[in-house]
Amino acid sequence: MIKRRPPEFAAWQKQTVEELKKQPERKELFSTSSAIPIERVYLPEEMDDKYVEKLGFPGQYPYTRGVRTTMYRGRFWTMRQYAGFGSAQETNKRFRYLLEQGQTGLSVAFDLPTQIGYDSDDPMALGEVGKVGVAIDSLADMEMLFEQISLDQVSTSMTINAPAAVLLAMYIAVAEKQGVPKEKIRGTIQNDILKEYIARGTYIFPPKPSMRLITDIFAYCTEHTPQFNTISISGYHIREAGATAVQELAFTLSNAMAYVDAALEARLPVDTFAPRLAFFFNGHNQFFEEIAKFRAARRMWAKIMREKYGAVNPKSMQLRFHTQVAGSTLTAQQPDNNIVRVALQALAAVLGGTQSLHTNAKDEALALPTEDSARIALRTQQIIAYETGAADTIDPLAGSFYLESLTDELEAKAQQYISLIERKGGAVAAVEQQYMQREIQRAAYEAQKRLEKEEEIVVGVNRFQLEEEAEPDLLQVDDRFVEQQLERLALIRKQRDNQLVQQSLTELKRAAVGSDNVMPHIIEAVKHYATIGEICNVLREVFGEY
Ligand code: 3HC
Repeated sequence: MIKRRPPEFAAWQKQTVEELKKQPERKELFSTSSAIPIERVYLPEEMDDKYVEKLGFPGQYPYTRGVRTTMYRGRFWTMRQYAGFGSAQETNKRFRYLLEQGQTGLSVAFDLPTQIGYDSDDPMALGEVGKVGVAIDSLADMEMLFEQISLDQVSTSMTINAPAAVLLAMYIAVAEKQGVPKEKIRGTIQNDILKEYIARGTYIFPPKPSMRLITDIFAYCTEHTPQFNTISISGYHIREAGATAVQELAFTLSNAMAYVDAALEARLPVDTFAPRLAFFFNGHNQFFEEIAKFRAARRMWAKIMREKYGAVNPKSMQLRFHTQVAGSTLTAQQPDNNIVRVALQALAAVLGGTQSLHTNAKDEALALPTEDSARIALRTQQIIAYETGAADTIDPLAGSFYLESLTDELEAKAQQYISLIERKGGAVAAVEQQYMQREIQRAAYEAQKRLEKEEEIVVGVNRFQLEEEAEPDLLQVDDRFVEQQLERLALIRKQRDNQLVQQSLTELKRAAVGSDNVMPHIIEAVKHYATIGEICNVLREVFGEY
């Protein structure tokens, strides 16, 4: 029986009614196996000011309990499996397989040459073509990547950073060829260069020109592709590099603030670009700490956007994020154990309110996933969604003495780091001073020591080992496709109108040297089948390499 209702309660109820009109919940009635009705959200009897300030209501500031009023009762999180290897044709087959098996979003893994702006025939690409992701050289490959997939029916995430503008341009061009106007395309480019300097390494240009490319994308997308998320500010790789949950949270939000600062310096009004900033976190082993991390992240970002940046659009304050469960926790030993790890990590992400989720395959400590292991990874999400009831009420662990205390602790410790980084001049300065890198290395070293002293146990690795193990059957990527890729690329270069290509590259160079937005010129270049290497080489000439 609710005794005290704050004013926000009525506002929240009204908002919920409105949203239910647009998107009804997925079931009339949610109930347990014993026919006990399950409420949309559970509230304390006494909702005092502290409750409203710290937790509030789902879909309402500070969003601690979730960014939508109905969350998974309205729509499950997007089941979005990171996939890509070999040729565009090979990857297109895997995409269509995963969609047939019920995944609800696409996520493209590009090979390293693509990620660092080299064509497959560049000497720098030798041995890496199609290895850790799909090889994309020109629009021709991108068209093949989305063969039989209509881009108005799906949202696509692209894990691309330094050359993000080029792949976004190709995606826009493919959509247009399919008859899908760019205003309708949905998806995300990772486009987060700061974490590349800190942890992942696929950068090309120095920080300043990189930030300019990013704000050019913000400006272009705000105007032309309003449904597309312009950046996925990532903590995933920072955590994979050895950071703690607090560091992952703090460094990600510090990077996010640097992007907002850069966009404001480029004179973009905060409420125009902020709604399309997205986030990407790691789903790690410590079950309760992870749930607390996601809840603290929402509350912190809401406060930062309203109080520090004066945002007024609620969408600017909603931290929407994707989670990938932690690749670094997968063991090569007893790979079947990884199915259990992934399931528990995924459950934590769901209880933490993720908008989109990738579950790792059991064999990924050894190789790229086979069809079978990729299917089991997806089924893990479907079992959580349809069989456990974890998606039937919002933020179910709210109010837990442990979880709320952990949420507060994580926020306080992360805030200390954020203030310290602000005092160092912000994330870009901290990255240039190697501050975050050093903090992560120290955390990684401490963790490794705990493992060696068996203060930390990894089942199958330093406890409960097996004498010998059967060889799992792993994915073999057929290298012969590299020859075909090089032949296709040579043919593209011959068949295209090279005069138009040259003209568009000259135009691009002029824009890059000046202050024009480079996006329209990159789109023009890719439409004439200029390659990612040719485009990035023009930018290398103008911006230099880092
Ligand atoms: N009621 C009504 N509407 C709802 C709803 C509800 N309950 N729930 C969701 N919706 C709406 C949303 O509002 C949205 O519509 P909008 O765009 O008009 O607001 C639509 O349904 C889709 O919902 P979401 O936006 O929540 O879900 P998406 O999946 O489309 O987007 C995201 C999620 C986090 C915002 C987006 O940025 C995303 O998809 N990110 C994915 C990033 C990713 O996959 N990265 C992989 C990187 S791999 C990597 O780097 C690791 C490698 O290096 C090893």
